[in-house]
Amino acid sequence: MQFFMSWEEKYQKGEVFWDRGEASLPMKQYLERHLVSGRALVPGCGRGHEVALAAGLGLDVIGLDIAPTGVAEAKARYPELAERFMVGDLFDPPEAMRGVFDVVLEHTCMSALPPELRADYRRGIDLLLRPGGLLIGVWFINPELDPGYEGPPYPFSVEALTGLFAEGYEVVADYVPEVAFEGREGRERLRVLRRLG
Ligand SMILES: C[S@@+](CC[C@H](N)C(=O)[O-])C[C@H]1O[C@@H](n2cnc3c(N)ncnc32)[C@H](O)[C@@H]1O
Repeated sequence: MQFFMSWEEKYQKGEVFWDRGEASLPMKQYLERHLVSGRALVPGCGRGHEVALAAGLGLDVIGLDIAPTGVAEAKARYPELAERFMVGDLFDPPEAMRGVFDVVLEHTCMSALPPELRADYRRGIDLLLRPGGLLIGVWFINPELDPGYEGPPYPFSVEALTGLFAEGYEVVADYVPEVAFEGREGRERLRVLRRLG
C-alpha cells in the first residue's frame, strides 16, 4: 500500500521527473524499423506516451498503471485513446489480460522498482505475455544516481537483466541505442526477449 501511495502521490504532486513528454526514442526507432503487430501492453505506462506510439503504429495496445492519477493524466493527454488506459497492478493483473498479449513494451517500469520486486516484475510479465510473444524493452541500465540517493530509478546491470530472464526467454535483439533523451545517452539498452513456448 505504501508503495502504491508513493507513485500516486508523485503524480498528485506533479513530481514526475521521468516524464519527457514523448515516447522513448529508442522504442520509437525500434518499432518503426521492425514489423511488430498484435495485442500489446505497456506496463507502468504513466502518462501514456508509449501507448500513443504503439497505437499510432497500428498495435492494439493497452496501458496499465497502478497510479490512478497517472492514468487520468494519460487519458487527458490522449483522449482519443482513453479506453486504452487502465488502472491496475502488474503484479496481479486482471484475469482478462492474462496470457493474451503478443507484445509487452517496457520503458522505465522495471527501473522504477526496488530490486526486491524484480522477481514480481518477471512473474507479472509471465502472466501477461503469451508463449512466443515479445518483450521489447528500453532498459534503463545505468541511472548514475547522485551520491546518497537510492532511487527510483533503481540501477540494475546487464547481467542482472540477463539473469532475470535467463530461463524461459531468448534474446532476439540487444544493443545500446544510438538515440536517447538528453542525459540518457549510453545509459539504456534495447533488448528484445521472446518468451519460449
Ligand atoms: C518511472 S515511471 C515511468 C512511466 C512511463 N513508463 C514513462 O516512461 O513515462 C514508473 C511507472 O510505473 C508505475 N508502476 C509502479 N509499480 C507498478 C505496478 N506494480 N503495476 C503497474 N504500474 C506500476 C508507476 O505508477 C509509474 O507510472
